[in-house]
Amino acid sequence: MLTVAVLISGTGSNLRALLEAASHPDYPARIVAVGADREAEGFAHAQHFGIPTFLVPYEQFESRAAWGEELSRQLAVWSPDLVVLSGLMRLLPSGVVAAHAPRLINTHPAFLPEFPGAHAVRDALAAGATQTGASVIVVDAGVDTGPVLAQERIAVVPGDTEHTLHERIKPVERRLLIDVVRDIAEGAIDLTAISAASRP
Ligand code: GAR
Repeated sequence: MLTVAVLISGTGSNLRALLEAASHPDYPARIVAVGADREAEGFAHAQHFGIPTFLVPYEQFESRAAWGEELSRQLAVWSPDLVVLSGLMRLLPSGVVAAHAPRLINTHPAFLPEFPGAHAVRDALAAGATQTGASVIVVDAGVDTGPVLAQERIAVVPGDTEHTLHERIKPVERRLLIDVVRDIAEGAIDLTAISAASRP
C-alpha cells in the first residue's frame, strides 16, 4: 500500500477527491497526512476522513528555507512513499524537493509547459488561448518544469471567467491525479525511471 502525504493551500477540492478514492478498499494508496502553509479550508476534508493534519504557517518563518526545514520535519513524521502537491501555492525550497524527489508530484491547471506558475488559469485567458488543460507532473527544481505524468486538453469557451474555466479544469485534474497515484502505487508509473530519463 502506497502511503501519501498531501500538501494544500486552499479549498482542497482535489484533495477531497483523492481522499474519496483512497477510502475505497480496492484503491492501492492511503493518505496518511495532509499539510498546509496556512489555515486551509481543505483541512476540513482531511478531518472528515479522520486524516491527521499539520500546519506550517509560511508567514511565521524568517525565510523560505526555514519554512522548508520545518515542512520536511513534519513530513518525516509520516515517512510517506509519495508527496502530492494539490494546490500548494508556494514554491518548495530546493532542500525539500531534493529530500523527496522523484516521489513528489504536483497537479497544475494548464497543459504544461504552457502557463506555468501560480496564475495558470488567468494567464491562459489573458493570452486569448482557445484551449488550456490540466497536468500532473513530477516536481523538480524548476517552476512546473518536471516531467509530465498525465495531461489533458480543455477548451476555453466564449464568456469563460477565471472561475468558470478553473471549475471545468478541476474535475479533469482530479481524475488525472487519482489515476496517476494509482499507477504509481501499482508500478505502472516508475517515477525514478521517468526522472532519470528527463535529465539532460
Ligand atoms: C488546483 O487547480 C491546482 O492545480 C492549483 O490550485 C488548485 C487547487 O484547488 N494549483 C496551482 O495552480 C499550482 N501552481 P483545490 O484547493 O480546490 O484542490
